[in-house]
Amino acid sequence: MNFKRNIVLILLLNLTLFISAQNTIIINADLGKEKIDKHIYGHFSEHLGTCIYGGYWVGEDSEVPNTNGIRNDVVDALKEMGIPNLRWPGGCFADEYHWKDGIGPRTERPTMINTHWGGVTEDNSFGTHEFLELCKQLECEPVICGNLGSGTVQEMSQWVEYLNSDNISPMTNLRKANGQDESWGVKYWGVGNESWGCGGNFTAQAYADEMRRYSTFLKNYGDNKLYKVACGPSDYNYEWMETLMKNGNPGRSFQGISLHYYTICHNWTKKGSATEFDESEYFTTMKKTMAMEELLQKHITIMDKYDPENQVGLIVDEWGNWFDVEPGTNPGFLYQQNTLRDAMVASVNLDLFNKYCRRVKMANIAQTVNVLQAMILTKEDEMVKTPSFYVFKMYKVHHDATLLPASIKCDNYTFENESVPTLSATASKDESGKVHITISNLDPENAKEVNCELRGMDVSEFTTGSIITGDKINSYNDFGKKEEVTESAFDAVKMKGNTLTVNMPAKSVVMVELQ
Ligand code: AHR
Repeated sequence: MNFKRNIVLILLLNLTLFISAQNTIIINADLGKEKIDKHIYGHFSEHLGTCIYGGYWVGEDSEVPNTNGIRNDVVDALKEMGIPNLRWPGGCFADEYHWKDGIGPRTERPTMINTHWGGVTEDNSFGTHEFLELCKQLECEPVICGNLGSGTVQEMSQWVEYLNSDNISPMTNLRKANGQDESWGVKYWGVGNESWGCGGNFTAQAYADEMRRYSTFLKNYGDNKLYKVACGPSDYNYEWMETLMKNGNPGRSFQGISLHYYTICHNWTKKGSATEFDESEYFTTMKKTMAMEELLQKHITIMDKYDPENQVGLIVDEWGNWFDVEPGTNPGFLYQQNTLRDAMVASVNLDLFNKYCRRVKMANIAQTVNVLQAMILTKEDEMVKTPSFYVFKMYKVHHDATLLPASIKCDNYTFENESVPTLSATASKDESGKVHITISNLDPENAKEVNCELRGMDVSEFTTGSIITGDKINSYNDFGKKEEVTESAFDAVKMKGNTLTVNMPAKSVVMVELQ
């Protein structure tokens, strides 16, 4: 009797396990309210290592094919990826940069020491005009971060006038003398960077006061309305957010406030290798990436308290993986390879920004070319597209689309005694009514069958799909070699009624399109 009862109990237990192991995403296709701002897919490039020099800028006389000194291959790739904006010139560099050193004939520009990044000599050959030429070629919005730390109010306000005014003035005459008649109409403006640290070591209250003063003299010219981004906190510094939102005059002195959070595998002294890592380090990287959700929730809660009308955007203008530099490279240049793990980190973060898009209006991964979690690596005239590049390219379908509420029930990916959810996803509807679902399976070993139930929509067809994966979690793309991680066509899906079953391979990111 007992034996029979035990058998029944074991069967029931197995059934429960089987049922709870179901992976389902319920998508309410008719309940979308918020727009996923395309600026969530933004980028950041600093005068650091070979990001600007060598990465974009090779000069007009270079053998590397270029247009007005800017590499053609990098511009073509970033356009293919759909870059919506580019933040420049820093980073920490922004608060020691004096813009007037970077205009006029290049041979006459003064040099400076880049004290933050390798102590190298900066010859200022890439300055305001070159940056705006780059943005023109990329067809993206410029985002300029002004120097509040070591500059002056006059210097910053004159930079805005130089860029945006069409009146007759000493600044506009100077711009014209340097070959640019028309104003550029730069909209996005950072008022200092990391002012709690490399940008001046301010207290929150002292920065709030300074930012209000600077903001007063950053004028709107013509139809161009500045979108000013105050320096916000890093990581868990909720006090900084509280002080700025309470005393910084949000909505008037600034329209956006920044947040910086980097994924560090171990600690700041030993961050871990970008390519040589084991499953424990892979798991830790995923867990630390997911901490972004808690940060978004808690910072947004503070913003909601002082800005219930949701006027001020949360601008995550530095994020991504920060690993040890590649062996033999300059430690001040922050050059790291980029593997399938980076692709997973990109997709998880982008899904979180999409999920909180009511408040998150822009994000900028650090740092586009040759620095930190880059999209592109260059070596002389060669170029590599990284796994992170392919995620940004795949996620273009979400730019300016409507976020669809999605409830995800999934297995845990467990390593030793700790777990994270296996799946991360975003569903959105574009202007033409097409629904796109991106799903990441973080489990490095196990494939997952995912049932996506579409509610509030009659799905007529599965149109197309693509996948990013690789043989190993540390697969990467390298110079002169066939790509190990890329985007390819994917059709391991079945439609039954309004349910789409997606067979997700281990360690993969998939996009499906429905209509
Ligand atoms: O992205 C590298 C550096 O990280 C930036 O210069 C700074 O803002 C941050 O600390």
